[in-house]
Amino acid sequence: MTFTIAITGKGGTGKTTVAALLINFFRKNFEGPILAIDADPNNNLHEALGLNVSKTVGDIREEILQSEKYSSPSMSKEGYLEYLIYGEVVVEANGFDFIAMGRPEGPGCYCYVNHLLRKIIDNLARNYRFIIMDTEAGLEHISRRTTRDIDVMLITTDTSIRSLRTAKRIRDLAISLETKTKNFYVVVNRASQDMLPLILEELNKMNLKLIGVIPEDPLVLEYDFKGKPLIGLPPHSPAIQAVADIVEKLKPLIQ
Ligand SMILES: Nc1ncnc2c1ncn2[C@@H]1O[C@H](COP(=O)(O)OP(=O)(O)OP(=O)(O)O)[C@@H](O)[C@H]1O
Ligand SMILES: [Mg+2]
Repeated sequence: MTFTIAITGKGGTGKTTVAALLINFFRKNFEGPILAIDADPNNNLHEALGLNVSKTVGDIREEILQSEKYSSPSMSKEGYLEYLIYGEVVVEANGFDFIAMGRPEGPGCYCYVNHLLRKIIDNLARNYRFIIMDTEAGLEHISRRTTRDIDVMLITTDTSIRSLRTAKRIRDLAISLETKTKNFYVVVNRASQDMLPLILEELNKMNLKLIGVIPEDPLVLEYDFKGKPLIGLPPHSPAIQAVADIVEKLKPLIQ
């Protein structure tokens, strides 16, 4: 059984940071293959993970649509796409695999290629015990239902009321669209202790469950500024410790 964690939330609230730290924690502490998915078209999860990524699923879609490359007599279209995805898009990293989705499907006659790509990604995903997915800011991808069959959605928020409201809207939309999300939790990021009582009160009113609080971490800022991958953060980093506490709380859900 694959256990899928998706990280959503308002822009700039720490989705990519939390995703990278979770991937790092899982690769060090859990058995089983892990797939990291960058579902944000702005593609920056790979940098936080210290990877070089040359192609995204979106790039393959465009290439296929702009050429007749796939009309090989010896290989089916699906076989060829699968070959490209496994060969050119999936990156084998240290302790996990990585795939970047790239730009989402546009309007027009993309249906068949998209259908094949979805099938290939779904089949690929089945090979993994854990999937950890970074997503685009906001709600658009939820309306597009690109995020499916999620065991845990972690919604990041900072201490602003706007990002708390976005967290609520994301949860409400995911429920109203009947996305297959089993659990929703909020991660308060860059939190200052004195704001916490107010935030907890607000979360209670919104009927949102808090799973963890990540403090402002000077090491995260420094690594980000210097372009150093977050997976190199030392174990004493407060953000690393906070993510470890979050995973501890998730453990009962992981069968
Ligand atoms: N706990 C933290 N302590 C210090 N800095 C942080 C922390 N969390 C995130 N940051 C910084 O905040 C900025 C935004 O974080 P991040 O890129 O993870 O957000 P995001 O939600 O993925 O943004 P986007 O919506 O643009 O994808 C980054 O510069 C990151 O280094
Ligand atoms: Mg991001």
